[in-house]
Amino acid sequence: QVPGQVKHYLQFADLTREEYDYLLSRAAYLKAKFKSYETWHPLHDRTLAMIFEKHSTRTRLSFEAGIHQLGGHAVYLNTRDTQLGRGEPVEDAAQVISRMTDIIMIRTFGQDIIERFAANSRVPVINGLTNEYHPCQVLADIFTFVETRGSIQGKTVAWVGDANNMAYTWLQAAEKLDFQLRFSAPAGYQLDMSRISSNALKHLTVCADPKEACKGADLVTTDVWTSMGYEEENTSRMTAFKDWIVSQELMSLAKPNAVFMHCLPAHRGEEVTAEVIDGPQSVVWEEAENRLHVQKALMEYLLCGRLD
Ligand code: CP
Ligand code: NVA
Repeated sequence: QVPGQVKHYLQFADLTREEYDYLLSRAAYLKAKFKSYETWHPLHDRTLAMIFEKHSTRTRLSFEAGIHQLGGHAVYLNTRDTQLGRGEPVEDAAQVISRMTDIIMIRTFGQDIIERFAANSRVPVINGLTNEYHPCQVLADIFTFVETRGSIQGKTVAWVGDANNMAYTWLQAAEKLDFQLRFSAPAGYQLDMSRISSNALKHLTVCADPKEACKGADLVTTDVWTSMGYEEENTSRMTAFKDWIVSQELMSLAKPNAVFMHCLPAHRGEEVTAEVIDGPQSVVWEEAENRLHVQKALMEYLLCGRLD
């Protein structure tokens, strides 16, 4: 394979609706195999490079366990130990790493970094979180919704919180999979409308009041007030977001069978109360586990194509 002709997963918009239909059913199939301890090694002897420029628990573990379960193995690289941390150009790193491995996952800062890396990679590159997007997480979230409540098409998702990587990815998913996203954040932390296409706008309602966003919703979700890389804004964010807490009162405005999701790690008493995240409507542990299953489907698909 040559750079420029490889299929990557850098944002949710990169795959078609049909590809998502396949990945969601494939993830369910792979999950069932995993639960019955069935060996399945389509990626026998393949190597996944995992490059981390930010912290991670779930992403690292789910990718590392996932490639292993598919018959391959993972190499963990971070900024501190590699030459990337000493200024080696991203383009050079991509050339070298992609000549020694079969697939690459990157967690980094700007989306431009992963795009430059992918443009110079001979093998598929997966976004394991950037400042702009977190597509593997939203894929797991949608899989979790489908698994617990059925199709997400035509449903309403309430986002209560920051206009961060998760929020923009949810909006891409709403456009791709045809559901509605209600977004509510304090003034000064709104979505940047210049990043949103006119078609995506058809799937978005911006609500000044988080209660309005949650009314009748099928899924309520939030995330940390301060994402990785924005730590110096933490104090001002704590004040700005104080009324954007997912409480039981907010959840009670959603549909009675609405689910609560959070990509984790969470801060009880900040963006969500303990009552909600530890309560009966919360599916956060399934959501975290499903990172493993959807990413196995994704890696298998990027390397082997459809296997159904
Ligand atoms: N949700 C998520 O991506 O978790 P980690 O930061 O632990 O990888
Ligand atoms: N929005 C959060 C997600 C962490 C998984 C962050 O970028 O830090």
